[in-house]
Amino acid sequence: MFMMGHNQLPPRLKKFRRLVYISQVITILSFTLLLWTYRSNMTFQSWTQYYQATSEIPLPVQLTVPPKHVPEQKVPFVAVNGTQTLLVSAYLEHRTGKGEVRVIAVVLRSETVVYHCLFRCQEQLRISEGVSDIHSDHFGFAYGTADIMCPLPSSCETPSHIAVTSAAANSEDILHIEFLEVKNQKAQNDFFPYNFTVCLSTMFEFTNVLQLVQSLEMLQLLGVNRVVVYKTSSSPETQRILDYYTYKGLVEVIPWSLSRFLNVSRGWLPLHGPGDLHYFGQIPALNDCVYRHMYQSRYVALHDLDELILAQSVKSWLELLPLLEKKYGADKCYLFENNVFPNTVPPPPTSQTLPPQSCCRSWQNVSGVNILAHLYQEPILNSYESTKYIVNPRAVFSATVHGPLSSLKGYSFVDRNIARMYHTRAAKQTELTPDQLIYDGRLLNYSTQLIPNVDTVLRKSGLLPEHNIH
Ligand SMILES: *[C@@H]1O[C@H](CO)[C@@H](O)[C@H](O)[C@H]1NC(C)=O
Ligand SMILES: *[C@@H]1O[C@H](CO)[C@@H](O)[C@H](O)[C@H]1NC(C)=O
Ligand SMILES: *[C@@H]1O[C@H](CO)[C@@H](O)[C@H](O)[C@H]1NC(C)=O
Ligand SMILES: *[C@@H]1O[C@H](CO)[C@@H](O)[C@H](O)[C@H]1NC(C)=O
Ligand SMILES: *[C@@H]1O[C@H](CO)[C@@H](O)[C@H](O)[C@H]1NC(C)=O
Repeated sequence: MFMMGHNQLPPRLKKFRRLVYISQVITILSFTLLLWTYRSNMTFQSWTQYYQATSEIPLPVQLTVPPKHVPEQKVPFVAVNGTQTLLVSAYLEHRTGKGEVRVIAVVLRSETVVYHCLFRCQEQLRISEGVSDIHSDHFGFAYGTADIMCPLPSSCETPSHIAVTSAAANSEDILHIEFLEVKNQKAQNDFFPYNFTVCLSTMFEFTNVLQLVQSLEMLQLLGVNRVVVYKTSSSPETQRILDYYTYKGLVEVIPWSLSRFLNVSRGWLPLHGPGDLHYFGQIPALNDCVYRHMYQSRYVALHDLDELILAQSVKSWLELLPLLEKKYGADKCYLFENNVFPNTVPPPPTSQTLPPQSCCRSWQNVSGVNILAHLYQEPILNSYESTKYIVNPRAVFSATVHGPLSSLKGYSFVDRNIARMYHTRAAKQTELTPDQLIYDGRLLNYSTQLIPNVDTVLRKSGLLPEHNIH
């Protein structure tokens, strides 16, 4: 009897077994629902609301797991199932007067997706349809940065978490959705923990330790309180320096593991390096940085590690910004002229104005460029090519490499006699002879403070012996 197959049972017993089976299924389903409701902290009322809110999406047949929250990560990188969309971060948008959450994402530009946004509002789950806006600065790569704008459902002003799905996703997938934290819950326009935050995007295979320390010390002399590094990979010495500054509270490292999901290009155009997305994913990193510090920092500066914006008549950015606001108006993006100081060519033989060699002898054993040894620049060909900028982040909607893509008040080019950018890097105009380079010793005005500060960091982080005094 026990060995008998189901089909061999007498008809009445078969009917009885079916009834038992159905009632078992009902019990299991109700228990799972109860468990899910309990584990996801939903009240039964909110469960009903979830049902109503999601009524355009068929409900899951089997409820086996509660909605997942992405574990605490700075940038979670959540893939939207059934699409090529990758979510970077989510921010409440306070400036459009519409009530919406901006989800910064990387999307396959050729793919059309209808997005659903699932909000977690107190104890309720609510839904709305998201609208994707692909940034125009995709440089011809297959993937680009996008804002998925998710309108807030009524009486859901401050959702704590959001998930984005494809409207085409099948109902069972809803159970596997990962939720992102919605940041920038409160707009703050008067008091900021930081005056200046610098966003350094996409550190990749980085080994230039000496210039890293010099730049971070220079930035502090300029009044910078926070430096955000979107980091993919670096040498162990670089990591040691980053750890030192993280401990000091200056640096925040954001792990930038986009290359796990996409083939990022090493170039800014497809012809400069194969891949699916512009330059290591710099654009989504810059945009994330602007939004991450929108209510943390009075200003943000977007430039690279080998670039320094120096005022000509005043020393710090604290003194510079009032000058710029007076001359060009407040809330503008201030764009600075890019002056290249080549580190790949020797200085002209006639140079006597280099820093005393004794200053930097101990740095010779540290890998990387010494910016104080490169005080000759290439002549400017196109005045405002490859600018970088400082801006009130609350005036920016979307950011790109050399200026804002969309902003409240637009931008102004800063007169080079007020401030300009010092870019210590490989020569760009490689045909120049040394005597065609132009001396600019502005950096030396910081050297009496800079040199001992750099020494201290190198010693404290163990890259120079403690006793080594120049
Ligand atoms: C994605 O969707 C497929 C089918 O639609 C499903 O089998 C799979 O479990 C889902 N994956 C995740 C990670 O949710
Ligand atoms: C910001 O700048 C003001 C002066 O404008 C200064 O008093 C304040 O200490 C600065 N804040 C930080 C965190 O450096
Ligand atoms: C990256 O490119 C390689 C080779 O072209 C390909 O096999 C791989 O699937 C790609 N990876 C992603 C995440 O697109
Ligand atoms: C550089 O390192 C070498 C080997 O460790 C050492 O002998 C030399 O004194 C160092 N030079 C300076 C300038 O510190
Ligand atoms: C350094 O600053 C002083 C005044 O602070 C100024 O007179 C001098 O020209 C500056 N030097 C350079 C090279 O900018």
